[in-house]
Amino acid sequence: MGQASETVRVGLGERSYDILIGGGLIASAGADIAARLPGVRVAVVTDENVAAAWLPILKQSLAEAGVAVAEVVLPPGEKTKSFAHLERVVDGILAARLERRDAVVALGGGVIGDLTGFAAGIVRRGMNFVQVPTSLLAQVDSSVGGKTGINTPRGKNLVGVFMQPRLVLADTAALDTLSAREFRAGYAEVAKYGLIDRPDFFAWLETNWREVFAGGPARTRAIAVSCQAKADVVARDEFETGDRALLNLGHTFGHALEAATDYDSGRLVHGEGVAIGMALAHRFSARMNLCSMDDAHRVEAHLRDVGLPWRMADIPGALPGADKLLDYIAQDKKVSRGALTFILTHGVGQSFIAKDVPASEVLSFLRENLAG
Ligand SMILES: NC(=O)c1ccc[n+]([C@@H]2O[C@H](COP(=O)([O-])OP(=O)(O)OC[C@H]3O[C@@H](n4cnc5c(N)ncnc54)[C@H](O)[C@@H]3O)[C@@H](O)[C@H]2O)c1
Ligand SMILES: [Zn+2]
Repeated sequence: MGQASETVRVGLGERSYDILIGGGLIASAGADIAARLPGVRVAVVTDENVAAAWLPILKQSLAEAGVAVAEVVLPPGEKTKSFAHLERVVDGILAARLERRDAVVALGGGVIGDLTGFAAGIVRRGMNFVQVPTSLLAQVDSSVGGKTGINTPRGKNLVGVFMQPRLVLADTAALDTLSAREFRAGYAEVAKYGLIDRPDFFAWLETNWREVFAGGPARTRAIAVSCQAKADVVARDEFETGDRALLNLGHTFGHALEAATDYDSGRLVHGEGVAIGMALAHRFSARMNLCSMDDAHRVEAHLRDVGLPWRMADIPGALPGADKLLDYIAQDKKVSRGALTFILTHGVGQSFIAKDVPASEVLSFLRENLAG
């Protein structure tokens, strides 16, 4: 069996499952999967980067546990979340003659997890699904909560299903082969959980972030707290009818910046957009007299310390004007009579859903911040 040093249970009735977190879980995945899904055969879906570092180790561990394996290796990158690649995954599962009670295993970042979970949800009307997230973002965010799907030319994540996994194996050692930039981007989502409703966790990160970046027990702890934070929200609101929206802290501004940079990962990756978005959400809250400017400065200082971008001026290249940015925000959000829904805050760890933010306030705020 694996060497999980932390286990987080996602409580969803009969669809409940465990997230195991610890070093070396890929090397022992076969035993963990066989113990929970006896007699299962699996198809492993991964991308070329992750396959080079981790697929042989996962396959060996499955073989040692007597689990038969098929594999589908896809190109890395957001473009892989498409109908064309969904078809390849579906075909790979069917070609291996897997049945409903067999399992589809996602080995990779959020791209592989979202695509593979969707395939597992639709092949034979739903197969067993196991997540082995290998990016920090996937370990603390995308592998938890059951949202799966692909992009279409009309937008991101527009086609998919809710599909909870049976097991999540978050191997903290996998992050050693992740680029420093991708690790930092994932860290923005870790900090997000502190800023939403865990002020003690945010304070702990301010003190311990170097150890989180270095690896070891602090990294495991940060991932476990993050998974617990997301699991709590998901257990309250699995299908996002209310509270789950809090997880979008920093994402309204962040998505607009991603769109404004044409989703060019050379300029901005998702977590970096979220970092800038969280800083803007705090600064905007201060401007609306909801929290103090000290809170906003505190958030900015932490993002800067860890090496994340925290203001729009940190994005390389020219940005469109404030009107265009507001258009992107309005596309991302429902605008009802000039009012926008945002996640705002009363201070560190005191975020809330604000449903009636005047678009005109956002516009002048963006103008000020683009200027300085
Ligand atoms: N389902 C959800 O709830 C949810 C939540 C947040 C984000 N997402 C989705 O997640 C995706 C982003 O996920 P991501 O940031 O993990 O991107 P990603 O899957 O593209 O991974 C980032 C890069 O890191 C590489 N990589 C991953 N793990 C590695 C490892 N251990 N060693 C070396 N290289 C590795 C990948 O090949 C890729 O090049 C987006 O599509 C987003 O929509 C989904
Ligand atoms: Zn995010």
